[in-house]
Amino acid sequence: MDSSRPGRVNVIGEHTDYNDGFVLPMAIDRYTVIAAAPAAKGRNTIQLRSTQGDGTAVIDLGQPLKPAPKGAWVNYPLGVVAGFLARGAKPGGFDAFIDSTVPLGGGLSSSAALEVSTATLLEAVTGDKLDPVEKALLCQKAEHDYAGMPCGIMDQFISVMGKRDHLLLLDCRSRLPEMVPMTDPSVALLITNTNVKHELTGGGYAKRRAQCEEAARVLGVASLRDATAGMLDNARGKLDLVVWRRACHVVSEIERTLQAAQGVRASNWPAVGQLMYASHCSLRDNYEVSCAELDAVVEIAQGIGSGGGVIGCRMTGGGFGGCTVALVRAEALPAISAAISAQYEKRTGIKPSLFVSRPAAGATLIKG
Ligand code: GLA
Repeated sequence: MDSSRPGRVNVIGEHTDYNDGFVLPMAIDRYTVIAAAPAAKGRNTIQLRSTQGDGTAVIDLGQPLKPAPKGAWVNYPLGVVAGFLARGAKPGGFDAFIDSTVPLGGGLSSSAALEVSTATLLEAVTGDKLDPVEKALLCQKAEHDYAGMPCGIMDQFISVMGKRDHLLLLDCRSRLPEMVPMTDPSVALLITNTNVKHELTGGGYAKRRAQCEEAARVLGVASLRDATAGMLDNARGKLDLVVWRRACHVVSEIERTLQAAQGVRASNWPAVGQLMYASHCSLRDNYEVSCAELDAVVEIAQGIGSGGGVIGCRMTGGGFGGCTVALVRAEALPAISAAISAQYEKRTGIKPSLFVSRPAAGATLIKG
């Protein structure tokens, strides 16, 4: 049998998920696929082979599971297997082969794609079918406990729930999803991988989470979802300046995300584009998770401007490298791609990778 789950690109709503805010990602047509077959009779191990990372890994189901050393790719499937065992599921031994077209460490959530495809496979192997929210949360827990990355819920939710031709407006507090159609053929989303890799487990992400929690505590709210621009103005002297700037990003980004969803519903692309640029500035200046290479792509895109068919552009994902997402006029795609590619390489000496994706299906492919 095989299972397949997509990566994602976040159109807007960055670093808002762990603040109970809103996010607006879409699944992309880049997938992680796992093919599996039962192990020889009596063998109680899961043998995993991946075309990426360092080859093979074995999970011994006869032993208590514990995380592999930090950075090992096996931690993602391992954490998901542990989640199923904790539910009392009995997977039994099998051999699995993993392949992926989601670039690793590119900010397109290759890790969530691997977790969710492992979970999808285990549902089929064990007959323990999870509801979508439970499944996304089990995968998030795998990432926390086994990969050591204190991520929010966005990546796993979009990998589970992505729907063709739709963005997902997710309320990360109520976990209620709203599918926002995006079918206008005159625009496209162009993803540029800076090919600079980020290290989200490296501490920058966890530190920002802690700063947001501190801001919420000082403001006297349950999370920054409940804070307003007015509250932040009043609290200027009470909060450490860096913490205050982090909170300014989150509060304004939640607002931008809701406005952008409104813009997509109305096909008001110039409004969506402006919100994307504003999101980038806020992530660069207040949240400080951008980097020179991401800024370079956004500046190049801005230089091409609306006259050349670029409507908006921003970094996407956790930051510290990875990808940008640009909203562009579809007819100008070839010229825009060529210009970004050439100018980025000239500025940084690095070859970028560019691709276009329509909102893809998060659909599961399971074949017996
Ligand atoms: C990473 C995390 C997500 C989210 C983004 C930032 O991708 O996995 O939960 O916090 O960063 O928006």
